[in-house]
Amino acid sequence: MDLRSDTVTEPTDEMRRAMYEAEVGDAARGDDPTVRQLEEEAAAILGKEAALLVPSGTMGNLVAMLTWVRRAEEIIADWRAHIVQSEAGGLGGVVGAMVRTIVTDDGILRPRAIEEAIRAPSVLAPRTALVAIEETHNFAGGTVWRVEEVDAAAEVAHRHGIPVHMDGARLFNAAVALGVPAARIVQAVDSVMFCLSKGLSAPIGSVLVGSRDFIEEARRRRQMVGGAMRQAGVIAAAGIVALRTMISRLAEDHARARALAERLAGTPGIRVSPPPVTNMVMVDVAGTGLSAAEFGKRLAEGHNVWALPVGPSVLRLVTHRHVDDEDVERAAQAIRAVAQSRAA
Ligand SMILES: Cc1ncc(COP(=O)(O)O)c(C=O)c1O
Repeated sequence: MDLRSDTVTEPTDEMRRAMYEAEVGDAARGDDPTVRQLEEEAAAILGKEAALLVPSGTMGNLVAMLTWVRRAEEIIADWRAHIVQSEAGGLGGVVGAMVRTIVTDDGILRPRAIEEAIRAPSVLAPRTALVAIEETHNFAGGTVWRVEEVDAAAEVAHRHGIPVHMDGARLFNAAVALGVPAARIVQAVDSVMFCLSKGLSAPIGSVLVGSRDFIEEARRRRQMVGGAMRQAGVIAAAGIVALRTMISRLAEDHARARALAERLAGTPGIRVSPPPVTNMVMVDVAGTGLSAAEFGKRLAEGHNVWALPVGPSVLRLVTHRHVDDEDVERAAQAIRAVAQSRAA
C-alpha cells in the first residue's frame, strides 16, 4: 500500500483509451488540437485568459518564476514551500533569484508578514519581484488557503506592484475541501500552476494558467528550459479526462485521510498534526523514540505500508484513488503495531 504520495496514482481506463485515440499534432508549433483543447478547458475552469501545458509541476513553477522574475530579484515564499524545498534549487540555479522565506506553521502567508518581507525600494536591496503561495500547502500537511487569505495576500502584493504566483499543484483538493470553485480561489492571483498527475490521476502533466500576455511569455520560457513537446496530445487527452471526471472524487480521499487520523487518535507515541483537511496525514512519531525514517522502514518491511518521511520525526501519508476504506483500516493497524512494538 503506497501512501507516500498521490503522484503514484495510475491513469484510469478512460484516460488510456483517450490517450490511444487522441488526435495529435506538433504541439511545440501550436498544432496539437488535443493540447489546445486541454489548455482552453484549463483556462476556462480557472477563469483566466490562457493556459500552457508543461511536463511537470516543477517545470510549471520554474517557467512561472522565469517569466515574472529577473536575476538577483527576490521571491517571497513560505519556508517549506515546494519551490524552496523540493525543486533542486531551481529558483536560484536557473532563475538566478533570491528567496525571502517566511516561517509559518500552516504555510499560509499572512498579509502583515508579506508586507514586512517586501523590500523597500533601495539601491542596496534586491527588488521583490514575486510573492509565491502554495495551495494546498504540501509540507505543512495539505493545509488550505481560504479564499479570503488568498485575496488578502494578493491585495498586499498588488498594492506594491508585485505579482502573485500560486503553486496550485493540489488546487482542486482545496476547491473540494472549501466547496468553492477553483476559479474563485485563484481570482486574485496572476498565475497558477496546477498538476494533472497527482490526485487527478493523469500520468503526466501540469498546466500553467494566467493572462494571455503572461502565457505568451511563459511559452518562450518553456522553450528555454526544453519543455516544449511534440505530439503531446497523448498526454493532454488524459489531462482532459482528469479535469472532466476526477475532481469531485477527491472528496473521498479527504474523507479517508480524516478516517485515518481518527483511527490513529490515542495511539501512544503518535501525534497527528495538523488535523487533515485534504488528502494528507502528517504523523509525528517522536513519542515512540523512533526516527521517521526508521518508523517508515518498519512500516514498509513489516507491513508493506509505505509512508514518506518529511522531517526527522514526521511521516506523511497521502490518500488517493488506489486507497480504499479497508486500506485505511490496515494502515492504521500497521502504524499502531509499529508504535506498540516500540513501546513494548
Ligand atoms: C506543492 C507542489 N508543487 C509542485 C510539485 C511538483 O510537481 P511535479 O512532481 O509534477 O514536478 C509538487 C509535487 O509533489 C508539489 O507537491
